[in-house]
Amino acid sequence: MEMIRIFSTLILFYTFFCAAAQAPDISITGIITDGRNPVENAIVTLVKDSRFADTTDSKGAFTLSNKTGISNNTVRNSKENNLIFLRGNRLYFSVPDGISTSDVMLHTAKGRCIQKYSLGKNRSGSPSIELPKLSTGLYFISISSDRTSIIRKLIVTATKKYLCGNSTGNFTSTGINQSGQTSTGVDQIKITKENFLTKQVDISSYKIEDLSILFEPESIANATSLHKRYSNFFHIGAAVDGNSYKDAHASIWKTHFNSMVCENEMKWTALQPSSGNFQFSQANAMVNAARSSGMLVRGHVLCWFDQTPDWVFQGASKEVLFGRLRNHISKVMSEFKGKVYAWDVVNEAVIGYNDNDQDVGEDLGSLKRWGYRNSKWYQIAGEDHIFEAFKAARAADPNAKLFYNDFWNYLDGKREFIISFVKKLKEQNLIDGVGLQCHLNISAAQEKKNNQSAYQTVDNLEKEIREYAALGLDVHITELDISIYTRDYVSDDKSKWYTSPDLNEAYQDKLAKRYKEFFDMFRRNADKIQNVTLWGISDDNTWLSEFPSGRPDHPLLFDKHLKPKKAFDAIMDF
Ligand code: XIL
Repeated sequence: MEMIRIFSTLILFYTFFCAAAQAPDISITGIITDGRNPVENAIVTLVKDSRFADTTDSKGAFTLSNKTGISNNTVRNSKENNLIFLRGNRLYFSVPDGISTSDVMLHTAKGRCIQKYSLGKNRSGSPSIELPKLSTGLYFISISSDRTSIIRKLIVTATKKYLCGNSTGNFTSTGINQSGQTSTGVDQIKITKENFLTKQVDISSYKIEDLSILFEPESIANATSLHKRYSNFFHIGAAVDGNSYKDAHASIWKTHFNSMVCENEMKWTALQPSSGNFQFSQANAMVNAARSSGMLVRGHVLCWFDQTPDWVFQGASKEVLFGRLRNHISKVMSEFKGKVYAWDVVNEAVIGYNDNDQDVGEDLGSLKRWGYRNSKWYQIAGEDHIFEAFKAARAADPNAKLFYNDFWNYLDGKREFIISFVKKLKEQNLIDGVGLQCHLNISAAQEKKNNQSAYQTVDNLEKEIREYAALGLDVHITELDISIYTRDYVSDDKSKWYTSPDLNEAYQDKLAKRYKEFFDMFRRNADKIQNVTLWGISDDNTWLSEFPSGRPDHPLLFDKHLKPKKAFDAIMDF
């Protein structure tokens, strides 16, 4: 709920005869608090003229000004210019010399005159008037004299009255009645800061000093749910399987995630294990559970070299293969139309080759070139299979977002190769985004300097995100997890396995730091990233404890007992 209070006396300062049409002089100062402490580093922007933006200093103070040398003293000493004060229920006037009769009118926001007062010529002391009983709402006080008209906004709440700054001009009170446009001069300042709800505060003067604004932190409830914590940034997803969506993991899933993807249940082997034999019930149960909890659903995956049954390729010419591909995509996407908002259409189609045209895997030392994976798809249909898959997907559900999904995008060469065909897809309006898998490690390989993981830096990931976004593509982080092992020993050597059931403090801290630095970067790029999906919920159920060697791993945000790890706290802490 919006809670903005303006308290403390507003001391008004203005140039008495400035014409309405002139660019206004701006000098607004104030303090932003959360009710107890000053809010530092909030950004205060004048809505109508964003050149006037300031960042609050350590005491939460801000100044928007196009005047140099303006200071509190200057304003406070300009006694002549402090024209109207509100104290309790009385308005006090300080009429400058040279102004004779002044009429004061109290209007409703729609311009109806409630009461008229005459201040006369008596300028000894401060003339004052008692306000009538007013119901809550917005009112205007206008002072008109033979020289000028001044308007102040009066806000009446159940407990207090606030007199705001001014708009000055030569219009008269009857002008207000005629036009009804009483708020013409009212601008707003906008206050933004991570973890606070953005506020807009009406100001009717560009010359307000000591504006005090209560700025509401996001609620405690938001602070304990991961996806709510990230509601201003991107969706937070989790991969679930046929059990985790409904067993003890489900409550974590529903509390902390607002996007889901099936870990295996929408792969070809699961959905069409034999020709024409579509099996949707498991995936449907999962998708429906996600949707009834208000989640978005990502679909994974339509065309992949892995987890695709052999029959798809058996005896297949290019045309036969494309017929099977189109049929699969069209049936699957129709089944989940309106439920799955984004599909990984093609997955992992690019690898690195050495001199002998062999896949180099992780060892970049022998890398010669990047190219298409020599999958059965590629052997039968070449790169056309990628375009065919995207065309079929676009036709099957024009409203779904279509993604190319892959790993190691932080390697420049791999990314350049991906971009070469993704650009063509984009030109043909066949693709909407890229999925960056992000199966990361706790740190870069220490010994194997040529290992791909040596390039898993925040800078490199940020660069890949920016480069893809610059192509006009959505960016989803699709399969995030951070293995506690470096890539130095992807081995079966059990002596190097971490076998304690619980992750010790040192590992917890290191993992938390790594998660935090990536999430800090993701948030910095929230204008480019729409979804960050974790590849699992908790460490008792992670593919990394099976792949590559059965070595136990602890790569997720919740531990084996389904309790949040330090990594969870770390990414909530900003
Ligand atoms: C993995 C699943 O997590 C495992 O359960 C399964 O045995 C193999 O596939 N990249 C992908 C995912 O695109 O589909 C993979 O999922 C992990 C790597």
